[in-house]
Amino acid sequence: MLQLIFLSVLVGAAVGGQSPNAQFVQRTYGSNPKFSSDILEDATLDVPGLVTKYGYPIEIHEVTTSDGYKLTMHRIPYGRAGNNDPNTPRPIVFLMHGLLSSSADFLVLGPGNALGYHLADEGYDVWLGNARGNFYSRRHKTLNPDARINQNFWRFSWDEIGNRDLPAFIDHILATTKQSKLHYIGHSQGGTSFLVLTSLRPQYNEKFISFQGLAPASFFTNNDDSTITSLASMEGILEPAAFALGMGEVFGDRDFISWLIENHCSPGSILESFCGSLLVTGRSEYFNETMEPIFMGHAPAGASVRQFAHYGQVIRFGKFRRFNHNRLTNLATYGSFTPPEYKIERITTPSYIHYATADTLVHPKDAQLLCSKLPNLKGCYLVQSETFDHYDFIWGNRAKIRVYEKVLRLMREAEQN
Ligand SMILES: *[C@@H]1O[C@H](CO)[C@@H](O)[C@H](O)[C@H]1NC(C)=O
Repeated sequence: MLQLIFLSVLVGAAVGGQSPNAQFVQRTYGSNPKFSSDILEDATLDVPGLVTKYGYPIEIHEVTTSDGYKLTMHRIPYGRAGNNDPNTPRPIVFLMHGLLSSSADFLVLGPGNALGYHLADEGYDVWLGNARGNFYSRRHKTLNPDARINQNFWRFSWDEIGNRDLPAFIDHILATTKQSKLHYIGHSQGGTSFLVLTSLRPQYNEKFISFQGLAPASFFTNNDDSTITSLASMEGILEPAAFALGMGEVFGDRDFISWLIENHCSPGSILESFCGSLLVTGRSEYFNETMEPIFMGHAPAGASVRQFAHYGQVIRFGKFRRFNHNRLTNLATYGSFTPPEYKIERITTPSYIHYATADTLVHPKDAQLLCSKLPNLKGCYLVQSETFDHYDFIWGNRAKIRVYEKVLRLMREAEQN
């Protein structure tokens, strides 16, 4: 994943570092196609445009965190199939995306396949978060994300996403719906941030019916991917260098990516292989290349270089702990020269962990290690496929059959308890 830092340097140079502010354009469509009908169109639509196109209701909610970040949540309050009386009370599910991604992760597979639509059709009130710094949440009360000299907007990692963004989301959802509990589904860093929240603020545990971790990233003890481990050892150099160069933001320019796809990534284009290389993942058998422009049109959606650096620290120091500043800042922030570990033993939410054999980012043994430490583990589920990988949880052809249907069943089970 750290390879992306270098890629983003290339891309950043190519576009002169321009990054537009997030803007929403609502579009309406006459027809409601059942499946993804137009790949290039879906690649360039934003989330509200995409959801509207497929005939689902969409709401846009803005919340402000305790440290001033203005974040966007997308809500699909009900589905388009079955009993869709908007006034029927329905259980809430909150979905949180992974590193460099956005709420689009749970929609790009399209109706009939994507987790977001599936849960809405199955009677859930679906809320989708966008972490600080991504395309939809690139605003702050006082800090400017586009400032090149003062990079303070970008000085955050997934510690702040868990500790500050998630409480703002969860509090807003429960206040709006007047319910007391919700499900949490997180992919990759979306799982990491859940662990951060519920270990740093254990009082939040009682607000969750279940935690469904889809390849949640936490421990990297068993990771043997040589690129990742060798780049992690450079974490202490790369992060300060990126900030010094005014590059605290990684891959934020979605307009550039969209332009690239529309103009240069059609099949047969000379840039086709370069377009493919923009994706982090190798291709698993579940990766549908026809859909690739859609995936690329929505990810990467931007992140802070410190999110990468923080994972780098976890790998380098072999501990799932808070961000390591210099010793004095650590002392001021944590009251100790070294950062404290996240206390997994405080996480009392009923937890369901889903992991995959061919995942090179969250090694199966590291997922099992997390399972062994979660105090209220309900199940640790290996996806029944030798080749299912990290990105198949959101992009895989068979994700619905291999994972989502099981997640739904386990959520319903958790509601009975
Ligand atoms: C790949 O995606 C295209 C476009 O959505 C779809 O028509 C096709 O059936 C998909 N292939 C598989 C194997 O699911």
